[in-house]
Amino acid sequence: MKFFIILGYLILEILLFARSSAAASCTINAYNEDDIKNAVQSCTDIIINGINVPAGVVLNLNLAEGTKLIFQGTITWEFYEWDGPLVNITGTNIEITGAPNHVLDAKGSLWWDGKGGGGGKIKPIFFVAHGLKNSVISNITIKNTPNHAIWIEDSDGVVAQDVYIDSKDGDTMGGHNTDGFNVWRSNNVRIQRINVYNQDDCIAIKSGTNVIVTDSYCSGGHGLSIGSVGGRDYNIVENVLVSNTDIVESGNGIRIKTVYGATGSVTNVTYENISLKDITNFGIVIEGDYNITNGSPTGVATDGVPIKKFYLRNVTGTVKETGVNIYILVKKASEWQWSNVSVTGGKKTKQCDGIPEGSGISCS
Ligand SMILES: *[C@@H]1O[C@H](CO)[C@@H](O)[C@H](O)[C@H]1NC(C)=O
Ligand SMILES: *[C@@H]1O[C@H](CO)[C@@H](O)[C@H](O)[C@H]1NC(C)=O
Ligand SMILES: *[C@@H]1O[C@H](CO)[C@@H](O)[C@H](O)[C@H]1NC(C)=O
Ligand SMILES: *[C@@H]1O[C@H](CO)[C@@H](O)[C@H](O)[C@H]1NC(C)=O
Ligand SMILES: *[C@@H]1O[C@H](CO)[C@@H](O)[C@H](O)[C@H]1NC(C)=O
Ligand SMILES: *[C@@H]1O[C@H](CO)[C@@H](O)[C@H](O)[C@H]1NC(C)=O
Ligand SMILES: *[C@@H]1O[C@H](CO)[C@@H](O)[C@H](O)[C@H]1NC(C)=O
Repeated sequence: MKFFIILGYLILEILLFARSSAAASCTINAYNEDDIKNAVQSCTDIIINGINVPAGVVLNLNLAEGTKLIFQGTITWEFYEWDGPLVNITGTNIEITGAPNHVLDAKGSLWWDGKGGGGGKIKPIFFVAHGLKNSVISNITIKNTPNHAIWIEDSDGVVAQDVYIDSKDGDTMGGHNTDGFNVWRSNNVRIQRINVYNQDDCIAIKSGTNVIVTDSYCSGGHGLSIGSVGGRDYNIVENVLVSNTDIVESGNGIRIKTVYGATGSVTNVTYENISLKDITNFGIVIEGDYNITNGSPTGVATDGVPIKKFYLRNVTGTVKETGVNIYILVKKASEWQWSNVSVTGGKKTKQCDGIPEGSGISCS
């Protein structure tokens, strides 16, 4: 008799266990913080399907090692004035991808007021990959971000590929500071085959080492940028290769900004096979005079963030006639080599100061 009671309990336990693990579903069909926490703790295949994230909430996904995360359907966020981020992902050996026809629609027009991060409504950063290790982000479609789209920060070994960021609506609806990618304090980052339509940097490498950007397309924004470098907690950019990328109808093509009066370094940066088309302000702009406080150049370069080993190869294309082909204002730069750089259509170099000797750059 006692045996059967024990057996009965055992069966009950097993049934209860089966039920509770089934309850921690790996597909999230509606936003619920507890469901997401349970899924993150008990599943390594997670589908986020068509959810609407409530106002002022971070979709926090601190994933178990080896998790495969899939975004499916249309995912939206409610309006709230705050810094965000709207999505925050952490983990090791993670694969993040999107199912066919998914879209992460951040509905940026609710925040856009032409002022970006510089005033008006407080606009959240969209997607932060924070402390992501040996992971791949691929096939993700993002629409209309209120502010910057993707930050890769404190990460090591991240590949982001086939990412489509479409904030085109911001061209006519007041989008500003809608950067595509920002890289901060990260090592071994590869960004490839991305398409960005926006109103600020396509990619901005603020700090980091061993960063590759390749086979991409940038339209409408401020180009492929390094910086601004200086004045933050980590101010080193080293070993960057940007290649095989087209930049069209953008404010700038190639840009490096270092901060006036700050310290840091920009070393071993190559841009190769870059094509520019219809650039409106500067085809290539390299300046060491950026005022990080008001976001404007001071007009005087300082030497605390020297740009060393800076290579341009096969950079060609056009600037609109109201723009400037090449602008350089730096101090203490060394070991630059430019070859096959031909940027035409705009005004001749307006400023050409601090170019290392023998770099092959002609300012006439
Ligand atoms: C992002 O996730 C990491 C890891 O869970 C956490 O430490 C950090 O506080 C989160 N950031 C935000 C803004 O929620
Ligand atoms: C990404 O999308 C492309 C085109 O839609 C498809 O060929 C490829 O298989 C997808 N890759 C993944 C990992 O889903
Ligand atoms: C310079 O950077 C490139 C691109 O990341 C890298 O392949 C190369 O090894 C670096 N050179 C040195 C001397 O570190
Ligand atoms: C120069 O870059 C363009 C892309 O902008 C590429 O099509 C072409 O093959 C490159 N030329 C050489 C000689 O590398
Ligand atoms: C630049 O383009 C040429 C010609 O297509 C190619 O051989 C070379 O590998 C490209 N450079 C990079 C860094 O991809
Ligand atoms: C930078 O901008 C701030 C704010 O407008 C201003 O107070 C400061 O004098 C500027 N610095 C320089 C070096 O121009
Ligand atoms: C530079 O142009 C020359 C002549 O057109 C060409 O032979 C060479 O491959 C080009 N080099 C690069 C790096 O694009």
